Amino acid sequence: MSDAVITDPVFSDTGRARIDQALKDRLADAGNQAPSLHAAMRYSVLGGGKRIRPALCMGAALAVGGDDRRALVPACTVELIHAYSLIHDDLPAMDDDELRRGRPTTHIAFDEATAILAGDALQALAFQWLSEAPGLSAGVRLQMVNELARASGSRGMVGGQAIDLAAVGQTLTLEALEVMHRHKTGALIEASVKLGALTADHPDDSQLAGLTGYAQALGLAFQVQDDLLDIEGTTDEIGKPHGSDEARAKPTYPALLGVAGARKHLDTLLDTALRSLSIFGREADALRTMASFVVSRRY
Ligand code: IPE
Ligand code: IPE
Ligand code: MG
Ligand code: MG
Ligand code: MG
Repeated sequence: MSDAVITDPVFSDTGRARIDQALKDRLADAGNQAPSLHAAMRYSVLGGGKRIRPALCMGAALAVGGDDRRALVPACTVELIHAYSLIHDDLPAMDDDELRRGRPTTHIAFDEATAILAGDALQALAFQWLSEAPGLSAGVRLQMVNELARASGSRGMVGGQAIDLAAVGQTLTLEALEVMHRHKTGALIEASVKLGALTADHPDDSQLAGLTGYAQALGLAFQVQDDLLDIEGTTDEIGKPHGSDEARAKPTYPALLGVAGARKHLDTLLDTALRSLSIFGREADALRTMASFVVSRRY
């Protein structure tokens, strides 16, 4: 195995540095046309970010005995889709936020049209990189493209964003809230784990079932903690405006269940995520570490 990102913190400085470097190297070659578009793409992808989704992708590769080097490009592609989703999420027509990762959002640092185009271009670039990912057969790359496209589109992340916007000002049932979260945040997290698992030659069905259970619980947990941080975190800590959800009457778990209820739900989701990994040994420790991080993170 490689100089692993991850036996422990995928999230360790070296793990994150490796992902950051891969993104930086690959984004450097922008050609000399449309300089502000390419600058906006680099600004949004390279300006910080916890790299949770790439880390999950690498962690899943390790869990199924795969090679995390083969997971590096797929991991980067999930981050491109994530970065594009954040650029568009912050636009005035959506959440209208001016701060992300402690810096002006892309449409503030550049302008709205450039931000929209940067998001569009990052989405296309993700699929380009995936189709060219080294060390993987054409069949596996095709499966990955399919997974990522499904998770990103109208039945995945984009569909979830549409549900989110349509639900502003409404009180959703717990079930409807969960459907929204599964789409807008869960789908991409599940795809991150699946892409990692696909780097192994022969992941078996029980491994895939365990990883899917883990990813689904963690995807929900991730958004519950994001909603809690919007209330409990300071703007300095979270690098985005504190209280943005309440100001915009967003449907969230704390809005529905209260802060204590949402936190209790988070504990249950963590438990489900960890139990889903019970068929794995130490090889899934990176994923276990990630789960604990996701529910206790302060940023
Ligand atoms: C924030 O995601 C957006 C949601 C899906 C809730 P992250 O908290 O992973 O954002 P970065 O990439 O670390 O900034
Ligand atoms: C964003 O959810 C989900 C996606 C970008 C797909 P939020 O709107 O809660 O994310 P933040 O809080 O702005 O990061
Ligand atoms: Mg939003
Ligand atoms: Mg938002
Ligand atoms: Mg949020």
